[in-house]
Amino acid sequence: MANSAAIIKQAKERIIVEKRDVPGPQASEILVKNRAVAVNPVDWKVQSSGHFITKYPIVLGSDICGTVEAVGSDVKHFKEGDRVTGFAAVLASSNIDEGAFQQYTILRENCAARIPENLSFVEGATLPMAVATAGVGMWEKLGIAKPTESKQSGGFLVWGAASSVGSAVLQMAASLGFTVFAICSSHNHEEARKLGAAEVFDYNAGDVARHVISRAESAKTPIRYAFDAVSVPSSIPQAAAILEGFGGGKLCRTLPSPEDPRLPKSVEVVTTSAYDVAASSHDFGRWLFNDWLEGVLQDKSYKISPAIEIVEGGIESVQKAFDVHKQGVSGKKLVLPLA
Ligand SMILES: NC(=O)c1ccc[n+]([C@@H]2O[C@H](COP(=O)([O-])OP(=O)(O)OC[C@H]3O[C@@H](n4cnc5c(N)ncnc54)[C@H](OP(=O)(O)O)[C@@H]3O)[C@@H](O)[C@H]2O)c1
Repeated sequence: MANSAAIIKQAKERIIVEKRDVPGPQASEILVKNRAVAVNPVDWKVQSSGHFITKYPIVLGSDICGTVEAVGSDVKHFKEGDRVTGFAAVLASSNIDEGAFQQYTILRENCAARIPENLSFVEGATLPMAVATAGVGMWEKLGIAKPTESKQSGGFLVWGAASSVGSAVLQMAASLGFTVFAICSSHNHEEARKLGAAEVFDYNAGDVARHVISRAESAKTPIRYAFDAVSVPSSIPQAAAILEGFGGGKLCRTLPSPEDPRLPKSVEVVTTSAYDVAASSHDFGRWLFNDWLEGVLQDKSYKISPAIEIVEGGIESVQKAFDVHKQGVSGKKLVLPLA
């Protein structure tokens, strides 16, 4: 079997497409033939900064969807032929076999989920990084109880609700029972409402924090949790100010940054890390992918969002997809279908 791969030979270099061997799975791993892969901001950030990767050459990429070609001796959850989506762990391991942007990728059993027949490979590829980042943030870092019969109450702020991570957080928070206050550009408000947002606000309009506080006060829905999916310098203090308006709370961000002196003391700040599912939180990853994600895809309660933008050309177009994403996307996930 040939394995065409988007290889970066040295830190900060551009991609060269070359053939490499098809890897074999270790005991708790599966080998997946990729039918679609998706791009995340971290891909071009790592390419241009050289951060995270300790060994070159490397194949980057975290989001894959395809069919199981082989399973390791300890694998119980998957069998050959299963259609799966999964979080490729290259950024946790610097293992080239665990990079998404090639025809065959090794996935860890606890970072993969079977997808139902009604879901296409292209749709499935949008999920892993967003679900891992949102899931670790919600259930591991914010410490919100996993879904049970009894619903949560109160307000939940999602800043950056049109981003890949934000749309996953929005759906998780709404399904847990929170009243979701979603912040995104106005042209993405309808989509945010479809995903379960009760109230939507445009961050480009003036004094969003004051508007959110006043709306939540009149609805008697105090906001104690916030998830800043974009975590830009302007968003974190505003999300924190909203929590402060209700006496404080817990704020999850997606990017680490030096402590911001403008943040109120009543706000506890935590940082999510998608890579925890591969690096440390193995049992949590198993629950998130093997149980929760499979369940919400099967019962169709989880919606594919943001909208998919196809990048044609397969592995040869991975560099182009990085370059397009670097220019910025609005309510879009870039996906490359593979033969
Ligand atoms: N810690 C981790 O493990 C981890 C994992 C994944 C991602 N991340 C990081 O999390 C961030 C989001 O990733 P992603 O893949 O979800 O990004 P993305 O989908 O590419 O984000 C694009 C969206 O960001 C929104 N946005 C930009 N500036 C905004 C602002 N000031 N306020 C509100 N929304 C804003 C835009 O919303 P509108 O179109 O509505 O304007 C746009 O739709 C990135 O920085 C990424 O590197 C971290």
